[in-house]
Amino acid sequence: MVVASAPGKCILFGEHAVVYGHPAVAVAINARMTVSVREGVDNWSIDGMHYVEAKHPHLTYLHNRLWEGDALAIQVNSEIFGAAGLGSSAALSSAYAAALLELANRDSALGQLPLIAECAHLAEASAQSGRASPTDSSTSALGGCVLISDVREEDADWQYTRELQVAGETRRWEVHKIELPTSLAQASLVIGFTGRPGPTGEMVAKVADMLESNPDRMGDIDRIGTVTRAGVTALRLGNLEAVGIAMDECHRLLRGIGVSDEGLDRLVEAARPYAYGAKMTGAGGGGCMLALTTDARRCAEAIELAGGRTLISPLGVEGVRIEQS
Ligand code: MEV
Repeated sequence: MVVASAPGKCILFGEHAVVYGHPAVAVAINARMTVSVREGVDNWSIDGMHYVEAKHPHLTYLHNRLWEGDALAIQVNSEIFGAAGLGSSAALSSAYAAALLELANRDSALGQLPLIAECAHLAEASAQSGRASPTDSSTSALGGCVLISDVREEDADWQYTRELQVAGETRRWEVHKIELPTSLAQASLVIGFTGRPGPTGEMVAKVADMLESNPDRMGDIDRIGTVTRAGVTALRLGNLEAVGIAMDECHRLLRGIGVSDEGLDRLVEAARPYAYGAKMTGAGGGGCMLALTTDARRCAEAIELAGGRTLISPLGVEGVRIEQS
């Protein structure tokens, strides 16, 4: 039996603008998806039940691509709020890809992180009809802090290029890691879940419609790109105040383009007295917000009093991991 795990993620800066060629920054969070796979069984199963291919498009894509052996018994255990913008499906794909590679060839999976990230991205894209950016899958596979851009960034540690064919076009992303200074270890992220799912495809389409009827609003998208770059500089310097200011500004701009909502705004406002900055994270329209703080307990209490469910994480944790082989 092989057991692998992979973390969820949250976006610090750049959601939505990344769809229009601007950079985005995400960190892996300490909520993990754990997948175990066992050989020597007669039939495919998942969590003790008969495996139905169409019900698990990510997993089906991955074993069709990576597994040539017989039936497997798959077991999944998640600590990540589902459909909340925290990358639970990318974490599932990364962990399953790692488990399959490890099972096929022991002690080799972690030497193949770009392959795990690629497979997880393509599994996401195949399940979402080609729209997924590699933000979630790369952050889950690589861990730490990841910068996605349409160009190779000079001051970041470039890892690989990801390409995807979408509607006859090749989309290309450059994936980097950012080494965060140790001074940031004193701070935590408090993630607050509104309890309502964030419909990613719907929110991406909403922004596209808004920009079509109001092309001058592209200025707000460009401004998110500028704030993201300022946020990256602040992160590199370990300047918590400046990271927080960039987060607040990002939230203001995301509200402006109509992707935040009352529930997210309420949790953001509740967190702010105890945080350097707070913003919605991911696609919006539900899902999660996050706050940067050195007083995680009080910040989490404030978010919970305002009706959110919370999770506390450092800024970046280990990516995909083999737990048992
Ligand atoms: C969703 O987590 C982030 C978006 O920017 C969409 C994407 O990057 O594919 C809204």
